[in-house]
Amino acid sequence: NKIDPCTLVLFGASGNLARVKLYPGLFRLDLLGRLPDDMKIIGVGRQVVDLDAWRADIKSMLDSKFKKGYDQKVFERFIARNFYHANPPTDPDAFNKLKATLSDEKVFPQNLAYFLSVRPVDFAPVVESLANVGLTQEDKYWRRVVIEKPFGTDLPSAKELQAAITKHLKESQIYRIDHYLGKSALQNILLQRFTNTVLEPIWNNQYIDHVQITNTEMLGVGDRTQFYDSTGALRDMLQSHILQTLALTAMELPKDLSPEGVRDAKIKLLEQIRPIPVNELEKHAFRAQYSAGEINGEKVPGYLEELGNNDSVVETYAALKLFIDNPRWKGVPFYIRTAKRLHEADTRIAIRFKKAPLQINDQDQNWLIIGIQPRECIKLEIQSKIPGLDVQTRTIQLDAANRWDADDSVDAYEALLLNLMQGDNSNYLHISEAEAQWRLVDPVVKAWAEDKRPVHQYPAGSRDPIESKVIFEAEDQFWRYSIELGGDK
Ligand code: BG6
Repeated sequence: NKIDPCTLVLFGASGNLARVKLYPGLFRLDLLGRLPDDMKIIGVGRQVVDLDAWRADIKSMLDSKFKKGYDQKVFERFIARNFYHANPPTDPDAFNKLKATLSDEKVFPQNLAYFLSVRPVDFAPVVESLANVGLTQEDKYWRRVVIEKPFGTDLPSAKELQAAITKHLKESQIYRIDHYLGKSALQNILLQRFTNTVLEPIWNNQYIDHVQITNTEMLGVGDRTQFYDSTGALRDMLQSHILQTLALTAMELPKDLSPEGVRDAKIKLLEQIRPIPVNELEKHAFRAQYSAGEINGEKVPGYLEELGNNDSVVETYAALKLFIDNPRWKGVPFYIRTAKRLHEADTRIAIRFKKAPLQINDQDQNWLIIGIQPRECIKLEIQSKIPGLDVQTRTIQLDAANRWDADDSVDAYEALLLNLMQGDNSNYLHISEAEAQWRLVDPVVKAWAEDKRPVHQYPAGSRDPIESKVIFEAEDQFWRYSIELGGDK
């Protein structure tokens, strides 16, 4: 896609996301020759910083990301694209001043993309302030606004935010981030499913026993304790990234690959997920918290210790069982789960097929694993004869890595920033997706918040808490890990 000359206005320019992902991501795009020649970037922050100091700061962001060095010529080009604008919250005239700065057409192309890497409570006020000074109206030039995650904290607040921003913006101007949609492994799901005749015909309840979508991390909540304790694993990961992964895994063939086509197919699927019955929540949802334990041989504290509050019932592990009410998936459970401080860091889709007509061993089964990170791969586990005189089978893997190491990949934010400038919002959320996702999880969030019984604990570095198995539909189902052949019992 052709990119118009444009200016990226980055609110929250000295924040963590900007330092770690956005500036390095923009620089990588420049290295790849993907930024238009006259594109400019203006960082907006509360502090007053002069241009030389700002450019030196950007250099330090790049130095800590590109440890092996980088092309000096591209660096000179990149640094010359960068400007800074102080927007102190106490200054009533701040947005007029921003407008005055941006109106210098010789420096700043007039197509404007605003990236709001700010606190969620500031999303609506920033949009409103931009609109009040005439910086959101599209005439000759486009105006786009990126809203970071989370889009609301529940369905009512998402609707409120939507109402506030759509006073000033059309849907086509709004780019809601779910950074998982920028991951090439997620973009691959649609292609792998529908460009392979060997997969699509068996992708249904006739052949599939159940599906597991898992994200586990070895990291804890780090210095985000306050944020995390007001959010929890269910809202932090399942409501967003994992439900999007599920939508791509389970949706029907989109009418075409246009942004509308793909988003419509996802919306339809998300709206077909059966509401979780809160009256028998324990069979459908499970939560737990990590206690002190060991990660890579090092002792680490438990969640409550890190938080300094023993009363919290907020989960760092969340698992849900979902059913999709359509003919393709009738009766197939989808287990989705996420955890901090588990024994492995891995994100994958694991599909277990139904039993084959001939069973040599009880455990014989086929799994298809789509690895998302750290290893982007597709693995098919099949039964095969053990060479020799006896009739015995074992599981072997057909294993193809798309990429071995997440580090050499295009970062999700790079892809999303490029899409933003291209005006392609297919990898951003439509409001109906955000709403369907909140509608699904809200009742569970509420029920868990009201239930003050002590939460199950799992030692940091362990596998899933045994008790989590209550959500399985069938006796022979079990959590699938990344490496074990044929699964782990
Ligand atoms: C973020 C969550 O949205 O995604 C974090 O807030 C989580 O808690 C992160 O660690 C995971 O992203 P990734 O790309 O590292 O899998």
